[in-house]
Amino acid sequence: MKMRKVVSVIGAGNVGEHVASLLALRGLVDVRMFDIPKKDGDRIIEPVKGKALDIRQMLAAIDIDAKVEGYTVTPEGEGYEALEGSDIVVITAGFPRRPGMSREDLLEKNISILAIIAERIKKYAPDSVVIVVTNPVDLMTYAVYRILGFPRNRVMGMAGVLDSARFKTFISQEIKVSPKDIHAYVIGGHGDEMVPLISISNVGGIPLINMLPREKIEELIRRTRFGGGEIVDLMGTSAYYAPAAAIVEMVEAIVTDNKRILPCSVFLDEEDGEYYGAKNVCVGVPVKLGNCGVEEVIKIPMLPEERQMWERSVESVKRNLKTVEELLNARSKV
Ligand code: APR
Repeated sequence: MKMRKVVSVIGAGNVGEHVASLLALRGLVDVRMFDIPKKDGDRIIEPVKGKALDIRQMLAAIDIDAKVEGYTVTPEGEGYEALEGSDIVVITAGFPRRPGMSREDLLEKNISILAIIAERIKKYAPDSVVIVVTNPVDLMTYAVYRILGFPRNRVMGMAGVLDSARFKTFISQEIKVSPKDIHAYVIGGHGDEMVPLISISNVGGIPLINMLPREKIEELIRRTRFGGGEIVDLMGTSAYYAPAAAIVEMVEAIVTDNKRILPCSVFLDEEDGEYYGAKNVCVGVPVKLGNCGVEEVIKIPMLPEERQMWERSVESVKRNLKTVEELLNARSKV
């Protein structure tokens, strides 16, 4: 009988390897990592197997019991049998942003990678909860949701936890209070139009609007919206420590059934549409996470100006949905 939960991480690059090592360090789950082979001069190497071994030896050094395995797969989708038995699958495979690129610039390349991966998840891990990380994440979550055909509670994208962590970091730096005591939600699409909800943001229970002047809050919002780009410009590639930690928060909420409320990109259905004014799109909203994945979509209150921002953000995600549909239809005809 399988006792420990299994989390599979597809794509063991910067984000994926940090997810694997953070999960392993918590000792809560077993981890399986999947990635394609690489070239080292004339030699074909299998970094994913090396990374898994290295993490496993790290665990032995600090007395943590968790199994970590690495599996080499092909871009064509061979080698995914070990997905079988996964409780959660995290997808970080694909290309990250480079300086000067928007997340949408990755759409076409990443969708063809994720389409193959989604088909393998459907085949080998049909009961899993899937967390999509690859950018542009709202569109990728939608594409994966469509291909998988899983109930919507088992497919979600990671963005809001990261964006909220960035916002909390900037607030914490500004007012010199521990981020633990800062509550702030960022919802909407994971792009320049994301929506930090100021009206409900608070520091130790005190509304943020009572703690900082409006212009300062606006400055922090701007920095949050371009928080990903700031790191891409500094590092030449996209962030991975904070994204990995955000994924681990989501995984832990699901595995431990702790019912945390975290902003995640989920498919909005008819009923959500009545409150959020948006349906048939994946976009970030606060949800309750537990064993079943998304257990509830929370209807968060918004001021009229926040609702306007929300509508703009949803529109910016929707603008590219047609391209996603076309790419998916073209694939299904092949
Ligand atoms: N199958 C499996 N893995 C793949 C495939 C494929 N077809 N194509 C690429 N990969 C792997 C790469 O080999 C690489 O190890 O995906 C990994 C991506 O890692 P990085 O290039 O380091 O990118 P990373 O920074 O981890 O970002 C991954 O997450 O946050 C998002 O925008 C980011 O879309 C990007 C993704």
